This record gives sequence, C-alpha cells and structure tokens, in this order.
Amino acid sequence: MIDSERTVTDSVFKAASYIKSKIADGDIPSICIVLGSGLAPLADECDIELSIPYATIPAFPVSTVPGHEGRLIVGSLEGKRVFMMSGRFHHYEGYDSSVCSFYVRVMKRLGVKTLYLTNAAGGIADNINPAELMAVTDHLSFYCDSPLIGPNMDEFGVRFPDQSQVYDPEYIEMLMNIAKENGIRLHKGIYAYMKGPQYETPAEIRALKNMGADAVGMSTVPEAITASHCGIRIAAVSLISNKAAGLSDKKLSHQEVMECAAKASSDSCKLARLFIKSL
Ligand code: HPA
Repeated sequence: MIDSERTVTDSVFKAASYIKSKIADGDIPSICIVLGSGLAPLADECDIELSIPYATIPAFPVSTVPGHEGRLIVGSLEGKRVFMMSGRFHHYEGYDSSVCSFYVRVMKRLGVKTLYLTNAAGGIADNINPAELMAVTDHLSFYCDSPLIGPNMDEFGVRFPDQSQVYDPEYIEMLMNIAKENGIRLHKGIYAYMKGPQYETPAEIRALKNMGADAVGMSTVPEAITASHCGIRIAAVSLISNKAAGLSDKKLSHQEVMECAAKASSDSCKLARLFIKSL
C-alpha cells in the first residue's frame, strides 16, 4: 500500500469515528440524503437530533457556495433515521473529484447502504421543463476526472469498477411509482456532468444532446461513482431549474436557478420523503 492511499483511508476512518462518537445512542443511520438546490427545506421536515458543522469533522472539506450550507444532520424522517448532508463539495470550488466525494466513503465506513442524491440541472430534452423533476438513470462524465484516480482503496472497491448500473434500477422504479401515485411530474433521463463553474455554451448543449443527455449539471456524478465503487445503492433526482443554454432566449443566472429550485422544492421534498418512507 502506498502512503497516499493509507493517508486517505486514515482520514476517512478518523472522520467516521468522530461522527460515530457524536451519536450518543449508537444508532447509526443507513440512509444518507444530500440536500441539493431545492431540497434544503427537507431539513425542516426532519426531526433533527444532531447537527455537526463540516468544519468540526476531521479531514472534511468545507463548502463555499452560497446556498450550500455546511453541516451534517442526524435525525429522523418518516420514522427512518437518516444522515442529511446540508451542503456539498463541487469541483468548481477547486476541490479534486475525490475530495468532492470524500464524504461518501465516510458514509460507507459508518454503514450507510442508501445514498439519495439531489441536484439542480438544466433541462436539455425537449419535454423536460423548468420546475419538473428527473430521476437519473445514467450519466455522462467524459470531461471530468474520475474521483477514483489514484491508488485504488481496496477496502472500498475494485480497481476497475463496473458502471453499467450506477443508479439502482429498483430505486428508479420506486421513484416513478411514488411520483405517479402522488401526482408529481417525474421524468427519467441521463445527466451530463460538467465541471463548471461557467454554464455551458449553446454548442456544448447541442453536443451533449447529440450524445444522449437529457439534463446537465455540476455535481452528483463524482459522488455517484464513489458510492457505486463501494457498493452503496444510489437514487438521484434532478430538479430542472432552467432550460439549458441556447434552448430558450433567457441568459442563465445562478439567481434564476435558485428561484426555480425554491419554487419546485415542495415536489422535490415530497418525493424524497415518500421514497425514504418506502425503504
Ligand atoms: N448547467 C449546469 N449546471 C446547472 C444548470 C445548467 O444549465 N442549471 C442548474 N445547474
């Protein structure tokens, strides 16, 4: 084992031990929900038992984006014990992909079995419109570094992990059924991961569309790759906050993304809650 591998593994173990030491009754959640744009209000629907600022967790990065507050919540939602990541780490903040998904391995070490990822995304497919939701069925990540680059951490997974079913098919079906039963408009589609922070050009969006993308965003994929590497089951839902570049006459802005995410957040929170309930 080379040094950097041992160092990262030690950091994962240290962060996990610290979190474990804070959970007084020792009842560690097996579900982790990542609160992307639009899902922040879910924290208010959770019976919060503990809120740990990222800055106090050993080796944890600190998120720097407005609207992405940094704390790990432990609580119950729909009678299920959950971790909630309020705030995540993005490549465009200057973090390596492996740092963006560091927390995923900490969750694995803690015994988490299900990761529910959410994000805001630009809609590319003709029928996917702002304020609608999309269950991610697969992704494109051609332009981005893998979070698994570097010495393989054998205790987490194999060197060359299969990626043919990153997003759990049973979870996708559950999401579609819940949405149908509850009148939530939920598409299925492919998420294209771009590094950002600049939004895409219309030419990039046309290229992504030709490659099969239905939506585009700047998060989620490093975390999904890391989770699939270590055998955590993944559900991912995009909140479509805008038509992608060149597909409407509007210029893109973070403010538009945040406003639309806030508008559509009730469906997004409802879907997340009902999904967690059905686990
Ligand atoms: N592109 C990339 N990321 C995004 C977008 C977009 O159009 N909307 C929200 N996040």
